[in-house]
Amino acid sequence: MLKTIEDLKNLKGLKVLVRVDFNVPQKGGVIRDDNRIRAALPTINYLVNAGAKVILMSHLGKIKWKEPDPAKIEEMKAANDMAPIAARLGELVAPVKVSFSKATRGEELANAVAGLNDGEILVVQNTRYEKGEEKNDEALAKEWAALADVYVLDAFGSSHRAHASTVGVPAILKAEGKPVAEGYLMIKEVDNLTRCVEVAKEDRPYIAILGGFKVSDKIKVIDSLLKKCDKLIIGGAMAYTFKKALGQNVGNSPVQDDQLEYALRCVEDAKKAGKEILLPVDSVVTDSFEPVEGRVIKVVEGDIPEGFQGVDIGPKTMELYKKAILSAKMIFWNGPMGVFEQEEFQAGTKAVCEAIKDLEGKAFTVCGGGDSASAVKQFGYKASFSHVSTGGGASLEMIENDGHLPGVDVLR
Ligand code: 3PG
Repeated sequence: MLKTIEDLKNLKGLKVLVRVDFNVPQKGGVIRDDNRIRAALPTINYLVNAGAKVILMSHLGKIKWKEPDPAKIEEMKAANDMAPIAARLGELVAPVKVSFSKATRGEELANAVAGLNDGEILVVQNTRYEKGEEKNDEALAKEWAALADVYVLDAFGSSHRAHASTVGVPAILKAEGKPVAEGYLMIKEVDNLTRCVEVAKEDRPYIAILGGFKVSDKIKVIDSLLKKCDKLIIGGAMAYTFKKALGQNVGNSPVQDDQLEYALRCVEDAKKAGKEILLPVDSVVTDSFEPVEGRVIKVVEGDIPEGFQGVDIGPKTMELYKKAILSAKMIFWNGPMGVFEQEEFQAGTKAVCEAIKDLEGKAFTVCGGGDSASAVKQFGYKASFSHVSTGGGASLEMIENDGHLPGVDVLR
């Protein structure tokens, strides 16, 4: 059993380092979606109410340290400054005091921590400002660990990363005999996703729905899901690699030619195992991905003509998928059915949402984060799901690795 936040006693006055995932969509400090900040509030509020000194660490965006031009590194840092996120948290937890440390290590950070009063929060600048974060650098992890009496992991979305703040710090604190635990968000995420990994009898038929762009990104999860689920529904651009592998003409649709053999093997293996892979029987196609005037958009069955590419599942496929979804007792969904960022190609993804809504109260339904979670939220279906994960990569890795994640394993 993992130690959970509620197993931590007598927190008053203790310095609790919480790794959160505040990697929110933002540009120039304007936050597009603060869901991940809100999702960490139960843990943050619990610690504040217990009188702990709360130190929050998170990464934001990516800093490409291989970039040879130092000016460009500075630009990336400026684009991923955590200060606006600290300000947003301050609004959400007001009147609790939230301060911000521009420093990610050294005396300035140590002083900021030392200046915390009980029940106050310090947000530390983006952990990826440190080159050693993604390398799980030992000296960096030691320095961060030295700031804390207790460590809490609540960054489900980052728990598939074996970085200094997610794995290095808790490993050190644990070895020192200090308490490490998972927060409320972690508990919820791990519980819900574990159900999709350890499939109970009453959760069958278990239907997995995968979409998105590249087959290569999903190879491990497809392999794993084919062992666990009863039926696999495939949509999104990756469906065209499968269709081509089965000998269909897919026109100008994006195809990963190096994955054709794999796709064919999947279909054959699934058949041998008595499991079905559902692929689109019709598609919405266009002659221009860019929304230029006069572009042609039409529905085609079977082969896609040259000059056209598939951008969404068609109406017959929607019906086929809906019928399958409605027979499920458990659903795991990751990846949109089409280019839902463009209004003309949203229908397939909406149809999946609608079918899952019809399952409300009759099945356990999980949306595994990433783009599909954005679509679910954008179309207003979040409340229809049993669980919408805050972590795309993490939920896929949890399925792939039979419930194991580096951030969770280190706490065990
Ligand atoms: C995410 O958004 O998936 C997590 O925050 C992890 O981010 P990363 O892919 O940049 O490590």
